[in-house]
Amino acid sequence: MRKTRRVAFVCAAVAAALAAGGCRGVQPMLAPGGPQARSIAHLGWFVLITFCAVTVVMWVLIVWVAARRRGTLAEHAPHDAGADKSWIVVGGFLIPATILCVIFVSTLNTMKAFPMGDHEQHAGPPAVTITAHQWWWEIEYQIGGVAQHVVDASELHIPAGRPVDIELRTHDVIHSFWVPRLHGKVDMVPGFPNRIRIQADETGLYRGECGEYCGPQHAHMILLVDVQPQADFDAWLGRARQPAAPPADSFAARGQQVFMTSACVLCHSIRGTDAHGLVGPDLTHLASRKGLAANAFPNSTAYLAAWVTHAQTMKPNAQMPDITAFSGDDLRALVAYLEGLK
Ligand code: CUA
Repeated sequence: MRKTRRVAFVCAAVAAALAAGGCRGVQPMLAPGGPQARSIAHLGWFVLITFCAVTVVMWVLIVWVAARRRGTLAEHAPHDAGADKSWIVVGGFLIPATILCVIFVSTLNTMKAFPMGDHEQHAGPPAVTITAHQWWWEIEYQIGGVAQHVVDASELHIPAGRPVDIELRTHDVIHSFWVPRLHGKVDMVPGFPNRIRIQADETGLYRGECGEYCGPQHAHMILLVDVQPQADFDAWLGRARQPAAPPADSFAARGQQVFMTSACVLCHSIRGTDAHGLVGPDLTHLASRKGLAANAFPNSTAYLAAWVTHAQTMKPNAQMPDITAFSGDDLRALVAYLEGLK
């Protein structure tokens, strides 16, 4: 009996630790921040509670059988064919089948709330297209005319309390959009765009990351969702639509010169300049972003300088090469220029 109790205690402790791990932290799965995530969380709680109830019943039965064992093996010989099988029919088939059917129907019901693909509800153009790359997120805001579309990276801005239709694409391998507080995982499959609708109840920062293994830096593909009041979002979008700020002083101008005459310009775009590279993230408003390298590092002077010269140490296998050729002053000027891209 004592051993049974100890096993039950260990199981309960592990379950509690797992549950607590899922509820807290920077990316909680059971703290929905919008209607889509809430319906998934409701289903999750229902399945979890059902699972716990079934587990408790099964453990009670097992303990009961173990506690009342008596007699000899011979007395426990298999029953003959005519024995009562109602336990097996009811306990082994009817009850599990009913529970599984209820969970299956509830799951279908939840899935129905997430139209994707060419569903008629999504006939209009998306407000945002997110394209996954190894290993960052390209975000195109398609609000207003084509001339007003704007491309940013790894930080999604949306207004609070409004539904936002998003098209999910990938540039290379299969990735998965996953912002637990706003939506379940949705795969980004080459050649097959997916549509989702997200809505955040409150302003704040919602963290997400790639939910499908996509290569060595899969774990460093973080997406921040900045949910703002409508007016702040409109103001942000207005700023995002502006071309890059010109260098503030001669030192930053030297930095711009370094950028435009080095490898940087082959891969990155800065709107309003001659940089039109399409391999890496758009840098027009780099300084306004919270993180570097898909939010793997904070956006600070030191990390920026380190990223330019030692990207392969910070994020091995990323497309960004180490550019160790810059001299001290060139590097400082380049970083000064990049930090002016607000
Ligand atoms: Cu992208 Cu994992």
